[in-house]
Amino acid sequence: MSTADIIDGKAFAEGLRARVTKAVATLSAKHGTAPGLAVVLVGEDPASQVYVRNKNKQTAEAGMASFEHKLPTETSQSDLLDLIAQLNTDETVDGILVQLPLPDQIDDQAVLDAIAPEKDVDGFHVINTGKLATGGDSLVPCTPLGCLLMLRDRLGDLSGKRAIVVGRSNIVGKPMAALLLRESCTVTIAHSRTVDLPEECRRADIVVAAVGRPEMVKGDWIKPGATVIDVGINRIPAPERGEGKHRLVGDVEFASASQVAGAITPVPGGVGPMTIACLLRNTVEAACRRRGWELPEM
Ligand code: GUN
Repeated sequence: MSTADIIDGKAFAEGLRARVTKAVATLSAKHGTAPGLAVVLVGEDPASQVYVRNKNKQTAEAGMASFEHKLPTETSQSDLLDLIAQLNTDETVDGILVQLPLPDQIDDQAVLDAIAPEKDVDGFHVINTGKLATGGDSLVPCTPLGCLLMLRDRLGDLSGKRAIVVGRSNIVGKPMAALLLRESCTVTIAHSRTVDLPEECRRADIVVAAVGRPEMVKGDWIKPGATVIDVGINRIPAPERGEGKHRLVGDVEFASASQVAGAITPVPGGVGPMTIACLLRNTVEAACRRRGWELPEM
């Protein structure tokens, strides 16, 4: 048994952000204006507040315009739709992101589908999910895109590889599977009703875990040498660190899986940092397409 290489998502994300920053500087010098991203947060969810703060900070650091819209928890769907209509026609806004989850009175998909598809930097609009599924050219959801960039960096050509995606969410599992299929992988999507999940995982050269269950995927589920991408971020009690303390773990049991895998992403510091870096990349891409600018290398 050997120990897996650790895929350093933090370093990878820093590299991508540096390339995005350079692209933004090139575009700004050439066209006299920078791409702009609007982020909408409804309510007070603490995790969402942290994400949104980081998104705004990193957008500004990359040299782009950052527009923040914070609305109260009790905001009606129609008020939110009014704001989106306004952002859709705002020429300074190239990307619109509505942070999920939204409060119960609001229908998430109705809101996502109200965003102009060409400004949908999350890639969640039904037109963009449809294009991804049918092989069209679309904006791709940020977390799966980050996973794919790390997989390509590690493995090069993915064609013919057996991949399993554990989890079928609209945000990660389904678009991840569509991306891997587009790379000509043989893709299995596993979920709560999958029979003998350990055996399904053992067949895979690539395991992407995105179920939101702490340390569910065990080391003896992993094929020796496989590449493991852990999308989960779970906060669990850590009494060994003192009373009331917590720690972050992924959906993969890192201690055992890292003894078997060829390469694995850690939690934290794996997939997490890549998501915002990909959002910035998508914003530049959306700006170039919408404004008819040539897309710089990123
Ligand atoms: N909430 C958790 N992940 C995401 C994401 O990628 N985009 C949005 N809009 N909300 C999220």
